[in-house]
Amino acid sequence: MDPAYAAECGSCHVPYAAGLLPAEDWKTLLKGLAKHFGSDASMDDKDLAPIRLYLLKNARKGPSAAPSGASEPRITATSWFKATHRDAARGHWPEHKSAANCEACHPSAKDGRYRELSDPLYGID
Ligand code: HEC
Ligand code: HEC
Repeated sequence: MDPAYAAECGSCHVPYAAGLLPAEDWKTLLKGLAKHFGSDASMDDKDLAPIRLYLLKNARKGPSAAPSGASEPRITATSWFKATHRDAARGHWPEHKSAANCEACHPSAKDGRYRELSDPLYGID
């Protein structure tokens, strides 16, 4: 995890791992930071440039990396995310309010790791 990225993009939510979105979606998202899901997440061009490089270089690739075309791209709207989280969604999302709150279930999400689960029951009921 790039430290500048983690600091700038991890203050309101976990710094989502670069490999969760394809490059085209990161580009769209970074263009719209002034109106970012109802928040102002804008930053100086000189601070943004290295973050942009980091995200694009480590972006998602392969068959599940089709760009969404959304104006506000979400990891949680991708079909791979929905498929992986079908069971978790049924049991636990209401109490965590937003699926985007990765850390509620993945204690190492701030380090870009999503294998560990905070509660062994997540996904089972
Ligand atoms: C000022 C607070 C703030 C900052 C700074 C911020 N964000 Fe966000 N971000 C939000 C909010 C609020 C949401 C919507 C969360 C929700 O739906 O629960 C969001 C959502 C997202 C999502 C979509 C999550 C999903 O549902 O899949 C991505 C991706 C994202 N942010 C990336 C970034 C990146 C990259 C940066 C740094 C350039 C950044 N954010 C900086 C507030 C912020
Ligand atoms: C309500 C709990 C919950 C939330 C919130 C949640 N997840 Fe998950 N996630 C799970 C569960 C449960 C699994 C395991 C699914 C399985 O293996 O059947 C999982 C699996 C994953 C995997 C696959 C891990 C592997 O072993 O390869 C990834 C990647 C992932 N989540 C990313 C995320 C991201 C990114 C977010 C936030 C945008 C998020 N998750 C939010 C519960 C959650």
